[in-house]
Amino acid sequence: MTGLFISFEGVDGVGKTTQVERLRTYLEAQGRTVVVTREPGGTALGQAIRQMLLHGVDGDSADIAPRTEALLFAADRAQHVAETIGPALERGEVVITDRYLDSSLAYQAGGRELTPQEIRNLSMWATNDLLPARTYLLDMDPALSHSRLQHEEDRMESAGDDFQSRTRQAFLDLAAAEPNRFRVIDASQSIEQVWLAIETDIAGLLQ
Ligand code: TYD
Repeated sequence: MTGLFISFEGVDGVGKTTQVERLRTYLEAQGRTVVVTREPGGTALGQAIRQMLLHGVDGDSADIAPRTEALLFAADRAQHVAETIGPALERGEVVITDRYLDSSLAYQAGGRELTPQEIRNLSMWATNDLLPARTYLLDMDPALSHSRLQHEEDRMESAGDDFQSRTRQAFLDLAAAEPNRFRVIDASQSIEQVWLAIETDIAGLLQ
């Protein structure tokens, strides 16, 4: 594949969406064609899966079994790669995704009962081994980031402080294990400071 694949990760409310849009604007100004997308829900099928994952079925959000949850996120990702990410990269475009497989590793394995290895195997199978060239981890204390959220909490967001702290730590551990792919950015800084860190890095990556 000839395009450039970038993902943003972090716990809820760290400002990923804002930085994704900054990066889109920057790259478009450089003449690149950019596809901005997200998980879960980057495709029509994915939207249906997202609805189930975040809001449950028939108003009952409590009983999605951990393995079912992991499979639904992986199914969303498989469709996302097949329908959106893969074709865009084949066309030589830049793909920026708000969350990708590290979210599954951090949320499904970091916070719940499944092991990182089984979640990784599942996602690598689902995506035919497609990993981003760069992953920006926007890191911040979940207690702070949650107070920034401006909507009612969904099923994942309401999983509790302990779950969110474990998720944050899982992201940091993933970043430490793959320092070439990850850049960890302190998201408690101002929007401008966070963007400056990303801009500096992407300029180097594009060269
Ligand atoms: P997101 O779209 O970032 O939420 P919002 O639109 O509310 O900002 O993600 C939805 C939730 O799904 C989020 O709490 C993280 C969770 N998630 C997982 O648990 N596993 C995954 O693989 C992905 C992609 C997301």
